[in-house]
Amino acid sequence: MILRDQTSMTTYSDLYAKAQSDIEGFWMEAASGIDWYKAPTQALDSSKPPFHRWFPDGEMNTCHNAVDRHVAAGRGDQRAVIYDSPITGTSSTLTFAELQEATARFAGMLQRLGVAAGDRVIIYMPMIPEAVVAMLGCARLGAVHSVVFGGFAAAELAKRIDDATPKAIISASCGHEPSRIVAYKPLLDEAIELSSHKPHSCVIYQREALAADLVEGRDLEWHAAHEGAPALDPVPVKATDPLYILYTSGTTGQPKGVVRDNGGHAVALQWSIPNIYDVKPGDVYWAASDIGWVVGHSYIVYAPLIAGCSTVLFEGKPIGTPDAGVFWRVIQDHDVKVLFTAPTAFRAIKRADPDAEFLVKYDTSSLTHLFLAGERADPDTILWAQDKLKVPVIDHWWQTETGWSICANPVGIEMLPVKLGSPSVPMPGYEIDILGEDGSIKAAGDLGAIAVKLPLPPSCLPTIWRADAAFIEKYLTTFPGYYETGDAGYKDEDGYLYIMARTDDVINVAGHRLSTGQLEEVLAEHPDVAECAVIGVADELKGQLPLGLICLYPNCVKPVDEVCAEAIDLVKGRVGRVSAFNLVVAIDRLPKTRSGKVLRGTMAKIADGEEWAMPATIDDPVILDEIAAALKTIGYPK
Ligand code: COA
Ligand code: AMP
Repeated sequence: MILRDQTSMTTYSDLYAKAQSDIEGFWMEAASGIDWYKAPTQALDSSKPPFHRWFPDGEMNTCHNAVDRHVAAGRGDQRAVIYDSPITGTSSTLTFAELQEATARFAGMLQRLGVAAGDRVIIYMPMIPEAVVAMLGCARLGAVHSVVFGGFAAAELAKRIDDATPKAIISASCGHEPSRIVAYKPLLDEAIELSSHKPHSCVIYQREALAADLVEGRDLEWHAAHEGAPALDPVPVKATDPLYILYTSGTTGQPKGVVRDNGGHAVALQWSIPNIYDVKPGDVYWAASDIGWVVGHSYIVYAPLIAGCSTVLFEGKPIGTPDAGVFWRVIQDHDVKVLFTAPTAFRAIKRADPDAEFLVKYDTSSLTHLFLAGERADPDTILWAQDKLKVPVIDHWWQTETGWSICANPVGIEMLPVKLGSPSVPMPGYEIDILGEDGSIKAAGDLGAIAVKLPLPPSCLPTIWRADAAFIEKYLTTFPGYYETGDAGYKDEDGYLYIMARTDDVINVAGHRLSTGQLEEVLAEHPDVAECAVIGVADELKGQLPLGLICLYPNCVKPVDEVCAEAIDLVKGRVGRVSAFNLVVAIDRLPKTRSGKVLRGTMAKIADGEEWAMPATIDDPVILDEIAAALKTIGYPK
């Protein structure tokens, strides 16, 4: 197993140059960091551009790499999963040997239910160890999992059921949020009712706080389903076979099914742990995120386990479970070496405990680095965390589509100077250009669309689930020869990237990606709403919040406040509470250009109290004054 890049290259720039000049050599060497049943003879297959595949003739199993090989190497007794749930007051561990047994039985159970390699399995679960077992158990069998975040509503789950067409769904009776128990099973039942595709079986883990009703003939209780199930060995799959589908927001209400392959993913994640995070086998790695997001897939489950680390599965919040000291307590209790979370989590802690008074109660000396991603890391938060924790705070930039960082400071290779506001430099395999609308390459310091030259490195999406044409259209068409990230920004003279904004209608709420187009589609369904727009407004805690502007039909007889409240309920009920949709204001008309384009950017600037210029193409300038007045009624600008 490669602990760190073993070549004679030791600096970031040498390593990066090697990865760009010798793609085959670099990634074949990285591939030796994982176990193969059939070692690949080739790294990159570019025979069918614009589709690129990694390790085309290799065969391996991701669960074997994350679990069995560590048991075989004599580390069966090491903690693999450390479950810490301040929200339920429980904590437990699974060793690698126990995880092997659990995933083997789970895979055997799935097989007995008729699930085979290549079949899809949806996992709709809270942050409990069984969710990790389910993900790895699918990988063991070669089944393709699709984890759906618990904060999504039934209609969103239904869309994913219809797109992924799972044979089985794995769920739990409930999740725990600080102020309430979230009953998952009724949401699952409703989603199956709504979807056209019906799964053959559902396996339900019954949690103590709430028992779910089971549907006879379809639902099985977790333990009963496992009874007498054979322990299955990992099934060899092609490196190019899909490991999972993870849905992410696009510009419309239809989420995109990002596909992750097995081989490229395992190789890239294995490479990342020592080289980016400076963590070695046996160390404790904690990504305080949720398995429903890509950070959870890559850095709660796959990367740390593939690299032989112990991973922390934290079912709680940065504040309120019970207090703003819980992160420090977890670091102390489990000897956490690296913590990875979203800036929002630290903004929440900073707000609740500005002087970090809780910190003195705990020993956090095991921590060497704090990594942040998921949204822009504001300098204030970085400096606060650095000052209080006394460790380097590293911002890195990535997306659901890539599965690992596009830009980072690779502290395991060499700690580069940190520049506040920048997630640092491109990782091996990512060649980044800043492009103008005409595709021309911008000079250092100039703002433009951030694009990555094809081929993308291992782990990046090979396609969208069953939608090759959409993959090309959404990512590869605007700038031929490039992958369009959807982010805008610039590079400085030293090659450091600065991520400034999205180029599409995606907003980032507490590190979660939301599509304003999707929220608009739901709002427009309200019978009294004639027209609407959703914009992202700045929020001190969550980075951005969605704000809906609705125009009511002239014959609407309901009080405006009532319609606004109903609109909020509609979005939360349809998309889920994760939408954090709490701001709606009624206006008479939407501001548009003469060609009919809604001026969302200008409205967002007005709401944020930023300087804005009257667009030359606006059809009626007075509307913007009316909107400013309407926004004032709900306290914007802040
Ligand atoms: N199941 C059901 N509901 C969920 C849920 C889940 N798994 N996760 C969140 N929700 C609900 C919350 O209860 C909340 O509901 P409410 O608005 O009705 O109270 C809503 O979804 C919004 O959740 P969230 O954005 O998490 O806000 P919060 O107020 O509960 O917590 C923070 C605020 C800052 C503590 C929280 O956003 C956080 O920990 N952020 C870290 C970011 C993160 O992990 N990002 C992942 C990508 S790296
Ligand atoms: P997701 O796919 O949900 O992880 O969201 C990815 C998006 O989050 C990116 O395209 C960026 O817009 C944003 N993002 C992620 N990490 C960072 C970062 N370090 N700095 C700025 N934006 C980020």
